[in-house]
Amino acid sequence: MRVTVFSAQPYDRRFFDELVESRPVDAELEWVYQDAGLSAATVALAEGSDAICVFVNDCLDAEVLEALAAMDIRAIVLRCAGFNNIDLETAHRLGLFVARVPAYSPEAVAEHALAMIMTLNRKTHRAFNRVREGNFALDGLLGVTLHGKTAGVVGTGRIGLCMARILKGLGCEVLGHDPYPSDAFSAHGDMVSLESLLARSDIVSLHCPLTEQTHHLMNRETLATMKPGAMLINTSRGALIDTPAVVAALKSRQIGALAIDVYEQESELFFRDHSAEIIDDDVFARLVSFPNVLITGHQGFFTVEALREIAQVTCANLIAFAMGDDCPNRL
Ligand code: NAI
Repeated sequence: MRVTVFSAQPYDRRFFDELVESRPVDAELEWVYQDAGLSAATVALAEGSDAICVFVNDCLDAEVLEALAAMDIRAIVLRCAGFNNIDLETAHRLGLFVARVPAYSPEAVAEHALAMIMTLNRKTHRAFNRVREGNFALDGLLGVTLHGKTAGVVGTGRIGLCMARILKGLGCEVLGHDPYPSDAFSAHGDMVSLESLLARSDIVSLHCPLTEQTHHLMNRETLATMKPGAMLINTSRGALIDTPAVVAALKSRQIGALAIDVYEQESELFFRDHSAEIIDDDVFARLVSFPNVLITGHQGFFTVEALREIAQVTCANLIAFAMGDDCPNRL
């Protein structure tokens, strides 16, 4: 089976190729790597394939899906958990097989959120630069002791649960909010309403999926109800936050710090080197200018363990499709 991999990075090749070398069953898969992201302009690159493999910022709207179906490409495997970038209704109407990797090291994303909290709080990014320049002054590096602070986890699924466990380990009082609460969370903290969580938390970490209900969950109104000076962390999906509203909340000092691993307009920027270019996105440029904002380029998942798991489950999804077997990861 020939599979065109869109948005392919060197690390995607490494982990897929490793698998093909180690397991004969996966050698049935022929990988064609394309640097380009998937869009209506690039979909033709998949011509001659049986399936495509895509990532978070590839566009799978109706136009792209129709084009795939017209080329007789019957399977789409997402090498990620979130599936907000695919028009599932159209995919189902066209009879396309769509599968994802539902969980790959949720600890990896939660640990990255922790790294962001720690960096923003203790300003280790600034300390690193200062010490290299022989500047050992502490002014401007003041943090708070996290032990005893209140931390809110919005979305207490796989990643949110790991986050709650980590935060409890730090000695924080942990609050959770989820319309479908799980019993497992009660070992780490209390489930409360979103209003109560936002009003009480010194740190709010977002771990819910992007849906119509969660789009701009953090907007002008909800940001105003947060505890003044609180820290907001988003490692989930960019559009959970109304970015101009969060810029305003940072300027008014309502928000004390912001860390984002995801950004609403990230498809224009992330996973590519733009260091020699002028970035046209003024909202992004404004965010970068704040000393209390930390941005990483969607790297929460980026650990060896997670990439290995993604490669394995993606191959298993493709093989299930090829054999006509039931696939638990089918959408
Ligand atoms: P999950 O499906 O296990 O948990 C999501 C939880 O959010 C569920 O318990 C669900 O009930 C809850 N939820 C749904 N609507 C909600 C709402 N309106 N308010 C509060 N909670 C709500 O998903 P998982 O594996 O924990 O992943 C969470 C998200 O993290 C994914 O949807 C994805 O967008 C993001 N992600 C980010 C990565 C990164 O590299 N930064 C990597 C992997 C996932």
